[in-house]
Amino acid sequence: MRVLVTGGAGFIGSHFVKRLVRAGDEAVVLDKLTYSGNRANLEGVGAEFHAADICDPHAVEEAVQGCEAIVNFAAETHVDRSILGPADFIQTDVAGTQVLLDRARRADIRLVQVSTDEVYGDLEDGGRSREGDPLRPSSPYSASKAGGDLQVLAYVRTYGVDASITRGANTYGPNQYPEKLIPLFATNALEGEPLPLYGDGRQRREWLHVEDHCAAIELVLREGRPGEAYNVGGEERENLDVAARILELTGADEGLLRHVEDRPGHDRRYALDTAKLRALGWSAAAAFEEGLAATVEWYAENRAWWEPLRSGEYRAYYEQQYAHRLA
Ligand code: NAD
Ligand code: TYD
Repeated sequence: MRVLVTGGAGFIGSHFVKRLVRAGDEAVVLDKLTYSGNRANLEGVGAEFHAADICDPHAVEEAVQGCEAIVNFAAETHVDRSILGPADFIQTDVAGTQVLLDRARRADIRLVQVSTDEVYGDLEDGGRSREGDPLRPSSPYSASKAGGDLQVLAYVRTYGVDASITRGANTYGPNQYPEKLIPLFATNALEGEPLPLYGDGRQRREWLHVEDHCAAIELVLREGRPGEAYNVGGEERENLDVAARILELTGADEGLLRHVEDRPGHDRRYALDTAKLRALGWSAAAAFEEGLAATVEWYAENRAWWEPLRSGEYRAYYEQQYAHRLA
């Protein structure tokens, strides 16, 4: 199979490209190389590369030549950045998705939209989100991802496009840009910098190893039904426990943990019902305890990958997001 992987230089997309190439498939990557896109993630991987924006229909048309499918990872992805400025999120996650859908429609090829559990909003009182549940996104990020999902469903119904959606839980593993909880706390702990935990730290997330997430996306690419969404769940943990474990694994001082001003609109808990994906044959291979230990070890051993990222634009963002919280 020859597959166009948009956002393939990012965290999950680059693991997916490597997975396709390992399986003997051909990957064509289209990526705008925003702050989180990184050519180093694809070093030594034989994939054709197009530095371009998914919002540019001509670039997409050129890259998709000869492909049988598009898997769309390209997105603005960080909730805190969406709170500081939502415009890019609407542009890429909604308008960009529509450009890809249009191309899938015209070329008559399959599309898999990589979405998130955050589109369901939070579940404070127990229970699990199922694929047919109403979308109740809380942040500009999750609202833009929900907008992308709804475009996909509209294109399936209106134009008969062959498209499916995956809704993955919080993903962790090597090569994740150090702004989200696990890579931020791991790199801060390794640097002896404070770990800024929002609010009481009792929020809960499901943690999904990147390889398990990619296996699910590949399965949906090959066997998912058009117009269907598939939840990809993980293991539920409280943020406080994840932070404490990272301190233990790095051997950093417990005093580095700081409770700071909460994220506005902060979702308390996500949890997914994964029966539909399991019926296709998926189950997670990684256990969170081992997966987290291996990931923290990867960050400890791969400073050359992340140290250069924690300067320039990153520092400016970090100051804006955390300086007043840590003051
Ligand atoms: P990431 O930020 O590491 O990667 C995003 C990639 O998209 C980058 O390479 C970036 O350069 C590229 N990109 C951004 N805007 C673009 C544009 N307009 N045109 C072309 N390329 C563009 O993100 P990630 O964590 O790898 O997430 C990938 C996908 O998975 C996203 O759609 C995200 O919503 C979804 N997702 C992520 C998680 C998670 O926990 N990380 C969980 C569930 C779903
Ligand atoms: P994050 O990794 O940003 O993913 P998401 O918001 O998409 O779930 O955050 C995971 C959890 O960690 C979330 O409850 C917010 C919390 N968090 C902190 O407490 N401090 C931080 O500095 C960050 C980035 C996240």
